[in-house]
Amino acid sequence: MTKARVGILISGTGSNMEALIRAAEADDCPYAVAVVISNRPDAAGLERARALGVTALAVDHAPFGKDREAHEHALDAALRRFNCHVVALAGYMRIMTPFLVGAWEGRMLNIHPSLLPRHPGLDTHRRAIEAGDAEAGCSVHLVTAGVDEGPVLAQARTPITETDSVESLTARVLAAEHALYPRALAEFVRSRAV
Ligand code: GRF
Repeated sequence: MTKARVGILISGTGSNMEALIRAAEADDCPYAVAVVISNRPDAAGLERARALGVTALAVDHAPFGKDREAHEHALDAALRRFNCHVVALAGYMRIMTPFLVGAWEGRMLNIHPSLLPRHPGLDTHRRAIEAGDAEAGCSVHLVTAGVDEGPVLAQARTPITETDSVESLTARVLAAEHALYPRALAEFVRSRAV
């Protein structure tokens, strides 16, 4: 089986990244993690990836100042250097320009901690609780120009209970993310034959 080569973009902890890497260790997983790239050199996920045997590097956005597109050209070049077929965003916290979105259109996935289209953007768990939502969850979607607006590929749901705090809900949804993302990525890769 030829495995699809996935590049993972992170900005921080990398717990979803770890879930993707661990799932890729199975012989029958249809993807392999080719590289992990962070826009922040101090992201904890970089060491975490290396400890799991995956090449990890930073393409720091800071030297590019306000020129987001120039930073994205550097990211894109790195992804291509590692022969990536698919990009998985895993806590990548930069808003993208049409350049990077267009370059990977139909081949870039993201995980978002809400049941999209509800609660795009940040602070989703607090907003779900304050809205009185009966349930929360997470979504894997294709990345398009609008933030958190691309077609949803898969979702996992969890009830919001009366005793839930932002912290308890965050932890429960994060655990659901770790199960959902590897499964959704594998299904995507199989169905699109990328
Ligand atoms: C996750 O909740 C993910 O859904 C969101 O950012 C968080 C990243 O956490 N996009 P981690 O870095 O994967 O631990």
